[in-house]
Amino acid sequence: MVRNLCVMKYPHQVKTLAEYKAAYDKSVKEPEAFWAKVAENFSWKKKWDKVLDWNFSEPKIEWFKGAKLNITENCLDRHLPTDANTPAIIWESNNPKEASITYTYQQLYDKVCQFANVLKNNGVKKGDRVCIYMGMIPELAIATLACARIGAIHSVIFGGFSAQAISDRLQDANAEFIVTCDGAFRGAKDIPLKSVIDEALKTCVFVKKVIVYKRTNTSVSMKADRDIWWYDEIKKVEAQGNAACPAEEMDAEDILFILYTSGSTGKPKGVVHTCAGYMVWTNYTFVNVFQYKPGQIHFCTADIGWITGHSYIVYGPLSAGATSLMFEGVPTYPDAGRFWEIVDKFKVNILYTAPTAIRSLMSFGLDLVNNKKLSSLEVLGSVGEPINEEAWHWYHTNIGKEKCPVVDTWWQTETGGILISNLANVTPHKPSFATLPLPGVQPCLVDEQGKVIEGNNVSGNLCIKFPWPGIIRTTYNDHERCRQTYFSTYKNLYFTGDGCLRDEEGNYRITGRVDDVLNVSGHRIGTAELENAINSYTGVIESAIVGYPHDIKGQGIYAYVIYDGDHDHAETRKEIAASVTKMIGAIAKPDKVQFVSGLPKTRSGKIMRRILRKIAEGDTGNLGDTSTLLDPSLVDEIKKGAL
Ligand code: PRX
Repeated sequence: MVRNLCVMKYPHQVKTLAEYKAAYDKSVKEPEAFWAKVAENFSWKKKWDKVLDWNFSEPKIEWFKGAKLNITENCLDRHLPTDANTPAIIWESNNPKEASITYTYQQLYDKVCQFANVLKNNGVKKGDRVCIYMGMIPELAIATLACARIGAIHSVIFGGFSAQAISDRLQDANAEFIVTCDGAFRGAKDIPLKSVIDEALKTCVFVKKVIVYKRTNTSVSMKADRDIWWYDEIKKVEAQGNAACPAEEMDAEDILFILYTSGSTGKPKGVVHTCAGYMVWTNYTFVNVFQYKPGQIHFCTADIGWITGHSYIVYGPLSAGATSLMFEGVPTYPDAGRFWEIVDKFKVNILYTAPTAIRSLMSFGLDLVNNKKLSSLEVLGSVGEPINEEAWHWYHTNIGKEKCPVVDTWWQTETGGILISNLANVTPHKPSFATLPLPGVQPCLVDEQGKVIEGNNVSGNLCIKFPWPGIIRTTYNDHERCRQTYFSTYKNLYFTGDGCLRDEEGNYRITGRVDDVLNVSGHRIGTAELENAINSYTGVIESAIVGYPHDIKGQGIYAYVIYDGDHDHAETRKEIAASVTKMIGAIAKPDKVQFVSGLPKTRSGKIMRRILRKIAEGDTGNLGDTSTLLDPSLVDEIKKGAL
């Protein structure tokens, strides 16, 4: 029965290893025919003229060229004839005592149309950028979809980013509209989102409207003519009496959203995804990696402020008519058994979380796990950073009771959806390996010179040689930056920035970033961005940031700082860390700040980060060749002062 439903709903879901191999083969040999067939499963206002047009040199990548669609018709309208009463979003509050909320597809459709009309009433038009800065409440998904409904470009900013970070993003996107909340509940904290926005808007006078949803009842200041309450605007739409909102006709390659992410330069980039390719990719990867079956409950623990939430809370599941569980809080509140409690409460079938959360929950022992059933679980997922074997086994044994496959999904903000992963119960899992590429994904490893490394049992820099539908199209307002960052390191290849090995069976294992980007608790943070923030602290002359292994976060942030002032003052350390929180957000706060009198530089002025990394790792025995340093004696001083 379920199998029949799957075949009907997801004809593009591969069910066996042989089907995977056949799909993969076809996707490489006849990519256009392959994706045209997959794309038949969606609702189009007009079909495409050409499936794919591309070159990686500009780059120019167009999927389903000439097609017209609206992604929300695929996420909402088309499910109504069969699934109007199927839960689309189940929401669980931060507070376990507060009632959960379920929105069926019909209800979600109504809410999205209503808010889309609010946006229109307030002057938002197709192509306008709308910044969404909210906590994890259903209205965040509603606002996101409402933008897509009217063709406005959403730019969701994670609720942990600071006023300065928001201001930078608003300016880059020239976003004139904001949707926010009075505050957000996260664990024991109440985060004053609106006041952070107020601070950000001091430098963004071009913002015309701020729509505020009341969640925490925190008192906020409302600027006349600019700030309006969500609830009041909904009332106005109700009074207008027309609840429907026609879906704007979008071109396949019109921008769906911008999502900012850190890179190796100081300024975050606005990664751009477009309507058709992103829709097809998130849907295809969702139904195949997790092997979603109608009726299952999918719980992705990410925040919609990150790409994982965009793709696997909102667009992937909803485009598949699935039930997506959204959780407002944090894994350790009110205690470290919260995820497991939610799994039991809603009989979650698919749990998709990050290694950092697993490692953190591991550290609380098994008492809060063993008093839960967890019997509904069928598939476990991991995302965001390499999962170490210990965490993998803990997850597989204690949460999955050794009966659930663990899909280790490797991908990036830029890839839109999962590129390398095993497919639950279809292709085998292997601890700490993302394993095999999805159909449509053609990975290759290259050496430092850009030579492709053939064969197995090899390692190198991970590149992709052919476009898949969800690939980044540009960086907002700066196409050259996109070309330089991803398409210029190696000719005709998309460069991921990750190091990788391929084992004897062709399985891929991601070993971590090879550029100046850290992965802290699954969050990407550029060292240059961190250094800019630290250098803004009065008295700081120069700084260098490196990552070091951290038991829970994966990587911790180690700052070496040249400071013209009182070095022993613990207060200064705290203030420097606080200045990073102010400039970027608490996620980027350095774990260690070491004052140094100089940084190890080569004669050409380049900081030798390799040495700083080794010292931060506590591995000072063999620092390698230091003879090219301008002042080798500095190394001893830095070693002595290591924290
Ligand atoms: O280094 C890889 C790591 O996270 C980076 C992408 O970060 P971001 O764009 O923030 O997206 C995170 C969610 C998709 C990658 O370049 N990464 C992501 N997933 C994995 C991973 N590293 C190892 N294994 C993974 N499964």
